[in-house]
Amino acid sequence: SPLEQQLKDLESFQVIAHRGASGHAPESTLGAYELAHEWDVDYLELDVQITSDGELVVFHDDAIDRTSDGEGAINDYTLEELKALDTGTWFNEENPESADAAFEGTQMLTLDELFERFGHDARYYIETKSPQLNPGLEEALVAMLEEHNMIESGRVLVQSFEQESLLKVHELNDKVPLIQLVWYYPSEKEDGRLVEWTGVTPGPEEITDEDFQAVADYSVGLGTNFIYEGEEVIDADFIQQANANGLPVHVYTINETDEMERLMEMGVNGLFTNYPDRLLELVE
Ligand code: G3P
Ligand code: CA
Repeated sequence: SPLEQQLKDLESFQVIAHRGASGHAPESTLGAYELAHEWDVDYLELDVQITSDGELVVFHDDAIDRTSDGEGAINDYTLEELKALDTGTWFNEENPESADAAFEGTQMLTLDELFERFGHDARYYIETKSPQLNPGLEEALVAMLEEHNMIESGRVLVQSFEQESLLKVHELNDKVPLIQLVWYYPSEKEDGRLVEWTGVTPGPEEITDEDFQAVADYSVGLGTNFIYEGEEVIDADFIQQANANGLPVHVYTINETDEMERLMEMGVNGLFTNYPDRLLELVE
């Protein structure tokens, strides 16, 4: 089946366009996804949040200030209000070398619009962002995935830092393939010992097969950071052990070619990047 094929494809290296080709065009906008799709990446990565009137929008931050001309919490606004914002001009100001007049006035993208644009011709790596600030997010997301027949046709992965959010998705539809995100950081309290952010797994130095199995019980892979404040938090052994427990490891967010190469040598199963063009060149 297409869903089985998708899981099989996870055995090979995955190029994941983080918020689209967001190094080249405003993140989370259609322009960034158009570029990534044109370059034939394996997955379009996106974060979803919910508007005050219950619509799903593709947006990363909890506040609209950084990447639009508005201010305040995204879920205080209706879709119509958010559609009036300019989510492109900030990019031109921040990235004069990649600025393009066409980005000015770019509107916020809904998940429905993204699905309408690329349909089953793309795969989507969707994060339930800030679930505690977005009540009803999982219900709305699963309904939208079903409406577009994305699940059975092997088109989506749903990722979250919040285990609870992933389990909620499974309660709604147990066929959705899930990715548990973790953020490892060296604990200051515990004398340099590595501990973990979300409480789902112990730090990489202490993680056991049982811990990996507990994640593999509900998810098909693990998404992790690589470096925290200059310190590498995962290594080849971590990847090998995760793989041995049936979990591919995807690392976020890797933009420099030398880091991409290092992680590929370590055996990583995929990378999230704002520069899929750089990664695709290495893969080829
Ligand atoms: O989803 C993987 C990676 O994107 C997680 O970090 O903050 O970019 O959503 P963030
Ligand atoms: Ca994300």
